[in-house]
Amino acid sequence: MNSYSALRTDDVDTESVESKDSASHIPQDLKKRSSFGYWALAICVLCTAINLVTTFTVPFSSTPPAKPMGSLTANDVRLLRRPSQYIGLEKVVRPSPPEPKSFWIYPIVLAPIDNADKSKVFDDDPKRYASQIGTITPEIRRVLVTDTVSTIAQFRAIDFGMESCELNILIPAVSSADGAAISVYRVNETYALDTRTLSYGTRPQRLQKLSDIPINPDDNVHWHRKFACPSESVLSFELACSTATGHSCNLEWWQDKTQSSMDNSGIYIVQHATI
Ligand SMILES: *[C@@H]1O[C@H](CO)[C@@H](O)[C@H](O)[C@H]1NC(C)=O
Repeated sequence: MNSYSALRTDDVDTESVESKDSASHIPQDLKKRSSFGYWALAICVLCTAINLVTTFTVPFSSTPPAKPMGSLTANDVRLLRRPSQYIGLEKVVRPSPPEPKSFWIYPIVLAPIDNADKSKVFDDDPKRYASQIGTITPEIRRVLVTDTVSTIAQFRAIDFGMESCELNILIPAVSSADGAAISVYRVNETYALDTRTLSYGTRPQRLQKLSDIPINPDDNVHWHRKFACPSESVLSFELACSTATGHSCNLEWWQDKTQSSMDNSGIYIVQHATI
């Protein structure tokens, strides 16, 4: 029994000398453990006090939490930086000259604008239809070129080491188009345009005319030209009626995301391997 008396430190003063003597036989580390208990209790009390203080004060005084990703608008997403997804791929040893590889890409934006109605925004989902599972938005887009209407086309170069882009334009035969021509322009826009606000009034500025492509009354015309296109860059063009010929234009076609839909008419890009 004597060996436990040292733990009741309050009673030490009233203990008999004999009892104090026996306390001196208690191993030193047992005394240390008892003081450790007081410290642990003190820390627990302190932590509890801090928890109580933070629980009742922080929610009322702190700034509102950061916006979740869901509150980004479509316009914010359009302007997001697009870093390379192909980290370290440039270190891979490749055959030189590069193997001739290519694939075609569909426009990310294909939308008419009207000079005669500067604020007119064309329907950007003209072929939508209701189905049992909801509204379907087929990627069927219209190219329309008249005397006042031109069409903006944008492409995003994709993949890695496919940085030569060949713009292809297939203009169908238009029997009434004697002498008319289509002008192709490069326009100053490096982000995907918002087709819900794109109108003549908000159109990107023309940078340079690439070509005048004559419309043939009897046969399709296939025009193509290559551009450098860094991965993830956006290439923007405008198709308009050429004013140089003095003939009026009335050209229209619909194209969808199947290449066969563009056998006779279409605007698309073929990306070629560069490394
Ligand atoms: C293209 O547009 C940007 C602003 O969007 C402007 O700073 C730049 O000067 C324009 N480039 C040309 C050649 O007009």
